[in-house]
Amino acid sequence: MDKTESTESLIAQMLERLRELQGRALAAEVTEAMTVVPRHMFVPHVPVEKAYGLGAVVTHWDSEGVATSSASAPGTVAGMLEQAEVKPGHRVLEIGAGTGYNAALLAHLVGPSGTVTTIEYDPQVADAARNALASYGADQVKVITGDGTLGAPDDAPFDRILVTAGAWDVAPAWRDQLAPGGRVVLPLRLRGLTRVTAFEADGDHLRSVTVNEDGFIPMKGIGSVVEQNIPLGPGPDVTLRVDDEQQVDVAAFAGVLESEPETIWTDIEAPWAWTENQDLWLATLPGFCRVFVDKDAVAVGRVPRPKDPWGAWGVHSGASLAYLTARRVGGVDEMPMLQIGATGFGPDGARLAQQLVDRAIDWQRDTDGRVQVTIEARPKDGLPITGQDDALAVIDKADHTFVITTAPLTAATA
Ligand SMILES: C[S@@+](CC[C@H](N)C(=O)[O-])C[C@H]1O[C@@H](n2cnc3c(N)ncnc32)[C@H](O)[C@@H]1O
Repeated sequence: MDKTESTESLIAQMLERLRELQGRALAAEVTEAMTVVPRHMFVPHVPVEKAYGLGAVVTHWDSEGVATSSASAPGTVAGMLEQAEVKPGHRVLEIGAGTGYNAALLAHLVGPSGTVTTIEYDPQVADAARNALASYGADQVKVITGDGTLGAPDDAPFDRILVTAGAWDVAPAWRDQLAPGGRVVLPLRLRGLTRVTAFEADGDHLRSVTVNEDGFIPMKGIGSVVEQNIPLGPGPDVTLRVDDEQQVDVAAFAGVLESEPETIWTDIEAPWAWTENQDLWLATLPGFCRVFVDKDAVAVGRVPRPKDPWGAWGVHSGASLAYLTARRVGGVDEMPMLQIGATGFGPDGARLAQQLVDRAIDWQRDTDGRVQVTIEARPKDGLPITGQDDALAVIDKADHTFVITTAPLTAATA
């Protein structure tokens, strides 16, 4: 095992920065696994300081420069492991071996009496993971090259299944290959949002134990996530992203950005981090989408600033669209206080902006910024779906209907 004094200190610094970022200590067993497993051995192509930074380390890209494999950010890895609560002796399946780093952590958590099977879609990535795991010495990890949507029936049942690529649905194989009392943790894509959800069986359906916000590289193969990225106009100023359930008349948007934008402001003022789960409320609007706005176009005043620079939430309808915007009204540079509004373009832009603003106000009224989210995955071939009247959203997928409900955070759930 290649672990020197200096990597030990880099690991300690990484864990300390994670603790500061999250404002709490990580679960003790996750801290221990991340202390023992040298992350740099799984990303040998980057300087060791980058391996222990807080970002994801991309290892593979497609021909258009889009990341197709990475070592997920340490905070993401730790968060998912905490949700999974892996115990010594567990039989674990991972979908998305990537660099092999998470599989090595899992191997540490399950110990010598447990097993880890990890599936990787890309044969080149799978080979690299096998080599890294062999150099590290994680002998009990089995790397399978294949489509993780089918699971690993030969090694089933599993106490834990961790999916480390954005999943469109809960694959029936994962449900079927889960041992009684087992838990499947996956980054679930719901109307373009990602919620890392730890599910356990509850009767004939799955019910979330914990739900976290994060982002993941989308799943490939049979269960692939299909999203459309639609540039509005000739340059990169604004790109609309919709998921595959939506029909978009791309031609209708011609010239939409040339219309005079209309901005409506709310009274909501919050640091960015306090708008947690606002996207879930907005996602209940028809035509919900994500809008990527080029920062240079914002800098020269061609388009108003989006609330979230990495993709603002918005809605589209016909030849019009609107997205959330924000302006700084106080705070400090590291934590600016933002006033939230919405900007609309096109003939119906003002109405769409008003819809976004109204929904953001609903979110504030319903949650006061703090809410517990529960997601149920009800199999399409299961019992009839009832009891969803109070749901925030009901989302139909190929194999499951997802019912999202919310409740105020109590001392017990906070
Ligand atoms: C974020 S990376 C995983 C990170 C990894 N767990 C690690 O520790 O480095 C996502 C990986 O999932 C893989 N993947 C995507 N779709 C897959 C599928 N259907 N079956 C198996 N692996 C898949 C990708 O090729 C990519 O390597």
